[in-house]
Amino acid sequence: MKHGTEQICVIGLGYVGLTLAVTMANVGYSVHGLEVRQDVLDKLAEGKPTFYEEGLESELKTAVKKKTFTFSQKITEIPFKPTVYIITVGTPLNSNGIIRLEMIENVTRDILSLLSEGDLIILRSTVKIGTARNVIMPILNEKGVKYQIAVCPERTLEGAALKELHYLPQIIGADDMETRERCASLFGRITPTTIKVSSLETSELIKLVDNTYRDVIFSFGNEVARISDAIGVNAYEVINGGKLGYQRTNVALPGLVGGPCLEKDPHILAQSVIPYGIKLDITPASRTVNERQPGESVKFINDVFVKNGSGKPERIVLAGITFKGYPETDDVRGSMALKVLAELKMQFPDACFYGFDPQLTQEVIESLGLIYLESLKNETADKDLVLITNNHPVFRKMTLPVLFENAKKSMLVYDFWNNFNPFDAEEYRERFIVIGNHQQFKPLNNNS
Ligand SMILES: NC(=O)c1ccc[n+]([C@@H]2O[C@H](COP(=O)([O-])OP(=O)(O)OC[C@H]3O[C@@H](n4cnc5c(N)ncnc54)[C@H](O)[C@@H]3O)[C@@H](O)[C@H]2O)c1
Repeated sequence: MKHGTEQICVIGLGYVGLTLAVTMANVGYSVHGLEVRQDVLDKLAEGKPTFYEEGLESELKTAVKKKTFTFSQKITEIPFKPTVYIITVGTPLNSNGIIRLEMIENVTRDILSLLSEGDLIILRSTVKIGTARNVIMPILNEKGVKYQIAVCPERTLEGAALKELHYLPQIIGADDMETRERCASLFGRITPTTIKVSSLETSELIKLVDNTYRDVIFSFGNEVARISDAIGVNAYEVINGGKLGYQRTNVALPGLVGGPCLEKDPHILAQSVIPYGIKLDITPASRTVNERQPGESVKFINDVFVKNGSGKPERIVLAGITFKGYPETDDVRGSMALKVLAELKMQFPDACFYGFDPQLTQEVIESLGLIYLESLKNETADKDLVLITNNHPVFRKMTLPVLFENAKKSMLVYDFWNNFNPFDAEEYRERFIVIGNHQQFKPLNNNS
């Protein structure tokens, strides 16, 4: 097989599979996507992805028009005999926090039915270390044909995936040089840099290390916020002051840390090493810091209402519900806003909960059990509490004076992302709280 003529089958047209499939189709490969969900296929048939990603809709239309991208539910409908299979199915955690690998097993069985001599299988999903060798290979070996296998993990950022696919280095892990060269040639058509590593496990570990590193870094920013709130200083002053012109420190700013990757990948790393007889320390500790933050903040808010003597909040708004505000995404998987909501419901069970998010439709917001708000600033007149739970640019542009303009006098705002101008924040110090800068908040004196 000449590498330039590879015919590619991408299995799983979710976020990772679709962005990659369309990118490969638009550089000239013949790509067929397999997807089990009929609703995903129906949307694709209308020329639309089921999720928002900047530029994807037009890239999808281009690929479909050029006829380099086709898709179906059944493997019998693939219009060519694939030479490369790329696995991009989900690897979520189950209710006990253990990675589910049955989707990987299922697609491997699908590949097995088509597998022929010389085919290349690429694992792109994020997995437990050893999945390619101990889960995928034993299934493929049943056929007794010679195939190649590599692990090339997806590392793009939601909201910037289509750009990043064209410049991020591709990690290519395989046990032999021939397979690495073949993958490098395949990905070399979309990105200038490929990094060949010497085993499947190296590649699997790189992906887990990359995401866990981010989780650890963010957790330290949140730890500094926790310290600052306890001792009564401003975490932003501590972090920004400490790193200005001092390159040896680069502490992250505090914020809610979640999303479809960070909520699970550090757990997968910790689980991966148990069979090797080691127990990690930093990785689970960082998760703990990030996971308990919503509960700690909601407890603080409850204490404020108790101290104010103003009763429990009756109308509460969650603003910025997707797992991050920037780059914009409509992904709510693993969003810490939902963890904040769960904590609020426990603390204030009788409250009405409202949702505002510029990236989400009314249908999605209502499906999360929230009353839909189309605008935030026009809806504050009867609200008691607003929580800003991501860093969408709309908040920065809104400014605090606008947010409070129509609000009732006792409305409290809690910001997990320091979205607003600090001078305005100072002015609203009786009604506005920022994580990591609780000390600035001076509760409203209801008797005045
Ligand atoms: N979302 C991200 O930003 C991101 C980034 C890097 C890596 N990853 C990793 O990539 C993998 C995929 O992530 P995702 O966000 O695209 O997941 P996803 O759940 O959005 O997409 C997976 C798709 O695979 C489909 N699928 C499942 N079983 C199938 C089968 N047998 N045949 C065909 N289709 C099948 C599902 O219906 C779904 O549409 C995960 O391991 C994830 O951790 C995700």
